[in-house]
Amino acid sequence: MAQVTYKTATSLDGFIADERNALEWLFHVDQSSGAPDHDTFMASVGVIVEGSTTYEWVLREERLLEQPARWPQLFGTRPTFVFTSRDLPAPDGADVRFVRGAVHDALPTIRAAANGHDVWVVGGGDLAGQFADIGALDRLIVTVAPVTLGRGAPLLPRRIESDRLSLLAVERCGEFAELTYAVGPPVR
Ligand SMILES: NC(=O)c1ccc[n+]([C@@H]2O[C@H](COP(=O)([O-])OP(=O)(O)OC[C@H]3O[C@@H](n4cnc5c(N)ncnc54)[C@H](OP(=O)(O)O)[C@@H]3O)[C@@H](O)[C@H]2O)c1
Repeated sequence: MAQVTYKTATSLDGFIADERNALEWLFHVDQSSGAPDHDTFMASVGVIVEGSTTYEWVLREERLLEQPARWPQLFGTRPTFVFTSRDLPAPDGADVRFVRGAVHDALPTIRAAANGHDVWVVGGGDLAGQFADIGALDRLIVTVAPVTLGRGAPLLPRRIESDRLSLLAVERCGEFAELTYAVGPPVR
């Protein structure tokens, strides 16, 4: 069964970006002793889902509007669903689909586009929370970097207690710790 997974890197104190929406703190972590294996995860992913801040960050950082040929190098031909209430540009040729409103309403289309493969919720935290709110988040994979930020974009700004989270795996990847949790439905 295809899974909906929120997979992200996080600081030790639970932020996925600093208060400037920057990630330098992540890229500065020494990877000489190893790094998380992203390729194996990506091989199972049929669809990418993200909020507009994350999407605009990727566009900017990778200069994708100026260099649209970079898009398939990064994401292949997978559809990317971007949640936004605004009209945003997309790189030429990229399969980017803009959606707004309740995750519940978009979910059937997202699942259909995944065509039996997994759905990667890239972030941010609140969007992942919107999936968790309706019991549509199956798995949480957090790669914990040896950094504290004090403030920034939160990992998952929801109260989800241990009756919904079950630790499936713990892996050391050099300086990073990768934690995988199964996420259960909301408890009534
Ligand atoms: N560490 C990592 O691996 C990692 C992973 C992912 C992201 N990040 C970073 O973390 C930060 C996350 O930013 P963020 O917290 O602002 O989250 P985000 O999910 O990227 O963007 C939030 C925005 O998405 C739009 N949105 C969300 N849900 C929506 C809905 N249901 N309907 C319509 N629009 C919706 C809204 O903007 P509008 O309606 O105004 O467009 C909202 O303000 C970014 O800087 C990103 O680059 C880091």
